[in-house]
Amino acid sequence: MSNYQIQSLEEYFQVYRKSVLDPESFWEEIAEENFTWHKRWDAVLSYDLNTPQIKWFEGAKLNITENCIDRHLYSRGDKTAIIFEPNDPSESAEHITYNDLKDRVCRFANVLKEQGIEKGDRVCIYLPMIPELAVSVLACARIGAIHSVVFAGFSAAALATRINDCDCKMVLTSDGSFRGTKTIDLKGIVDEALESCPDIKKVLVAKRINSKIEMKEGRDLWLQPLLDAAYRDCVPEIMDAEDPLFILYTSGSTGKPKGMVHSTAGYMVYTAYTFKNVFQYREDDVYWCTADIGWITGHSYILYGPLANGATTVMFEGVPNYPDWGRFWEVVEKHKVNQFYTAPTAIRALAKEDLSFVNKHDLSSLKILGTVGEPINEEAWHWYNDNIGNKKNPIVDTWWQTETGGIMISPIPFSTPTIPTFATLPLPGIQPTLMDEHGNELKGNQVDGHLCIKFPWPSMARTIWGNHKRYKETYFSTYKNKYFTGDGALRDSTGYYRITGRVDDVIIVSGHNLGTAPIEDAINEHTAVAESAIVGFPHEIKGNALYGYVILKETGESRDHTNLRKEINQIITEHIGPIAKLDKVQFVIGLPKTRSGKIMRRILRKIACKDTSNLGDISTLLNPEVVADIMKNVV
Ligand code: WTA
Repeated sequence: MSNYQIQSLEEYFQVYRKSVLDPESFWEEIAEENFTWHKRWDAVLSYDLNTPQIKWFEGAKLNITENCIDRHLYSRGDKTAIIFEPNDPSESAEHITYNDLKDRVCRFANVLKEQGIEKGDRVCIYLPMIPELAVSVLACARIGAIHSVVFAGFSAAALATRINDCDCKMVLTSDGSFRGTKTIDLKGIVDEALESCPDIKKVLVAKRINSKIEMKEGRDLWLQPLLDAAYRDCVPEIMDAEDPLFILYTSGSTGKPKGMVHSTAGYMVYTAYTFKNVFQYREDDVYWCTADIGWITGHSYILYGPLANGATTVMFEGVPNYPDWGRFWEVVEKHKVNQFYTAPTAIRALAKEDLSFVNKHDLSSLKILGTVGEPINEEAWHWYNDNIGNKKNPIVDTWWQTETGGIMISPIPFSTPTIPTFATLPLPGIQPTLMDEHGNELKGNQVDGHLCIKFPWPSMARTIWGNHKRYKETYFSTYKNKYFTGDGALRDSTGYYRITGRVDDVIIVSGHNLGTAPIEDAINEHTAVAESAIVGFPHEIKGNALYGYVILKETGESRDHTNLRKEINQIITEHIGPIAKLDKVQFVIGLPKTRSGKIMRRILRKIACKDTSNLGDISTLLNPEVVADIMKNVV
């Protein structure tokens, strides 16, 4: 990708202009010169945002793992592709070269085939951040199976929902995982989930923590012996450009998660291009993204984007505070990391600790810092800039989503001047726009509104698995012929974008997307609960935390509130996972509703934020009397 690295602001504007005036030839050139294709495309782009139908590079044939592995073997076979850094620093890191990776992916691919997986089958991957996770994702792609990675912090119930939604045939997991000083019984969670997944006939289990687990006869198999016996070469399955590469679930405004479907060619081209530019990757750099592969950030910018560029990418199993709060900086020093990409929530947590955890490590290898997943506040930005970046490394505040597949708005380091809290300018090929509530496009600068994208880009999700109607309704119906992001944003006097946060029922807690609906559904399962409503409120480290308003049934009213709070969080943990626990629970006599019965979250949000100066006209509510009562008892 040597020709496509933007080197100055002037060049950025030139390239951007070209990408908007003639998107097809812009992407065609990038696709032509940087990838291996078995057959060339018949058309670069065909689309209809109303249906919506989007096709990039239609007619082309390829395999993404050939692009991420095989084609590097001649020039970079012995180069490290993945550095695996374990949870415990006393265990040595593993350097997996491109040659090794080819071997391991092929063996794994052959095991999948032997176990009956075919092109188009869905494979659920529920693994911790160990090499088997990276290898199994690529092994699926090798044989054209569709991977559906479920973050290994989700509960059994959440896992089961995701397995059943896309009819997975197989689950890949491990005997457990390390997390700081703790271990987690992943296999136990899988066993529980599979009680409600009758179609899963095979579970392959990697060994990580050497715990005693039960292996179900006829269903569960240890992975390692199968890998050892497998042949080390596997001819890649030749895929169509628009064949689905993977499904990844994200929260939405109903209880059911949305399985976003990503395609092969467009996703590959876009993640590779954006990785090269946003991180200005050079041949010998060591790049580290601290995300989990269970999220889109890990898919696109630990695996596919970096590997498509022949990069060295760090995969970290651990947590920021084990053995102490200097762990990130120890890893940076140890592997001489050049690009470091993390979430604002991690930065805020680190900033609260003593600076000695930073200062005892040599961070001089760092060139570029990145953030993703939520808005970064000014204080955290300055801490990152001053203490990690030494006031000289550019910070790329990258805005994007599971649905967008790749980074959409971000500075190009060393070219785009940065301003704290601003994601700055759209990457080439991305045409953002801001809309007002009446559906009008806001022209000019110094405006704020709902962020939409008005032209297709190669890595956009093509549909929601099994529910194209929901895809259309969620993303393409609010504003005609535009992709609606669900985010609010402002454009300043220079055209820079600043993302202000979600404008829908999604709340971002510690960088994780949480829908209010599934959490409320879980709470309502409690036998003492009649109804509930969740809102977000600002939290020093998590960005947002969850505040729950709960109406008890008559039978529950006499119950001890402290116990009830615990039980409610327990139910949430069982249904979704610990990431969705509530920080505050207020028991209320009613929830403010419109005459049509819709909960007025805006009012609840203001009360939770202790900002009751401007609640608006509450007299039109169905039950205005509850507002004063809620305000009086706010937690
Ligand atoms: C939010 C993560 C502000 C946003 C890649 C978006 C951000 C949601 C930023 C998607 C940023 C992501 N500044 N907000 N730099 N990056 N977001 O699907 O609300 O997990 O819609 O994808 O995170 O979260 P998701």
